[in-house]
Amino acid sequence: MAMKIYFDNAATTPIDPLVLAEMMPYLTDNFGNPSSIHEYGRKAKAAVEKSRKIVAKYLNASAAEVFFTSCGTESNNMVIKQAVVNLGVKRIVSSPTEHHCVLHTVKTEGSKGVVVDYVQVNEKGDIDVAHLERLLAAQPETKTLVSLMHANNEIGTLLNIQHVGEICAKYGALFHSDSVQTVAHYPMDVQATKVHFLSGSAHKFHGPKGIGFVYINGHNAIKPLIEGGAQERNMRAGTENVVGIVGLGKALELWMTEGEQYRVHIESIRDYMATQLQAEIPGIVFNGYTDNRSLYHVLSVSVPANQKTELLLFNLDISGICASGASACASGSMQASHVLEAIKADENRRTVRFSFSKNNTKEEVDIAVAKLKEMV
Ligand SMILES: Cc1ncc(COP(=O)(O)O)c(C=O)c1O
Repeated sequence: MAMKIYFDNAATTPIDPLVLAEMMPYLTDNFGNPSSIHEYGRKAKAAVEKSRKIVAKYLNASAAEVFFTSCGTESNNMVIKQAVVNLGVKRIVSSPTEHHCVLHTVKTEGSKGVVVDYVQVNEKGDIDVAHLERLLAAQPETKTLVSLMHANNEIGTLLNIQHVGEICAKYGALFHSDSVQTVAHYPMDVQATKVHFLSGSAHKFHGPKGIGFVYINGHNAIKPLIEGGAQERNMRAGTENVVGIVGLGKALELWMTEGEQYRVHIESIRDYMATQLQAEIPGIVFNGYTDNRSLYHVLSVSVPANQKTELLLFNLDISGICASGASACASGSMQASHVLEAIKADENRRTVRFSFSKNNTKEEVDIAVAKLKEMV
């Protein structure tokens, strides 16, 4: 494959070579099942528990509150579905800009009789916290789960998770945050933030795909979504994805020591691209923010529609530049993005999401900006 410029890191990231090196022995010699009592099993079990401790340390949680799942999607499904079944949740408050794995799950619960309310968002994708508070104040007696993402994967807008946690606590609501785009990228402290459930996924931070985790606050014990075994202390049946768990732990550990360095670099790339786009392409519009109110690795850009921008992603791909339409999921289909719709983005523009990693360079940005300029 010719050299590609990979600007789609919000969709997924390449595995860090150090993570892969840590994983390899668990694909070969250390193949044991963590439930086995012999040495192979004990080795695998120890590796799983080592990763759990890393996640717990990162979150400032107890290891007993961390459960590995197959992905962020499973974690979100587990929390939403089981909060209804096990914790007596009768109402869910969410937003129209959530990832489909939250939106669709919430909708399913709604079809089964749970009351669903959506918080308003503004044209930047910010949650209207005053509206959230009004919604919670209106039904203080109803057991409510608030599910709001920590950062939007399409436009990058960040949630003030601290403030929302406080509002939820004030009204006795449970708070779940899909933090798939922020885990590793930002420090977290679940002791300081009043969040009851939080989801993460390794492939967004240079770990492998098919492995995620869910943080479940010790006081809000839900029951497993996947049944049939005693793994994960009876919380998630099925033989553990040991190699994935090892990769997740190593990837997160790297961010805990090198993250600040990564962040400074990635932010400089994002800022550089925003500046260059603005200088080179008249009439360019950014969706959401281009400062610290947004994910530092996401830049959502809209350009006027014309013959070339109609096939924007296709034309970028031909030039060796990998990006997404709005999110990876929406880019394969012609369906308009629900996020862009919710923020009332101009339908006559075409949107491309550039998302960066520690591996990107300013030279790559120059090439991408030149290509985009050519098309517009
Ligand atoms: C905000 C958000 N939530 C959930 C997911 C789903 O995570 P996973 O791919 O691990 O299922 C993604 C990414 O795909 C995401 O960006």
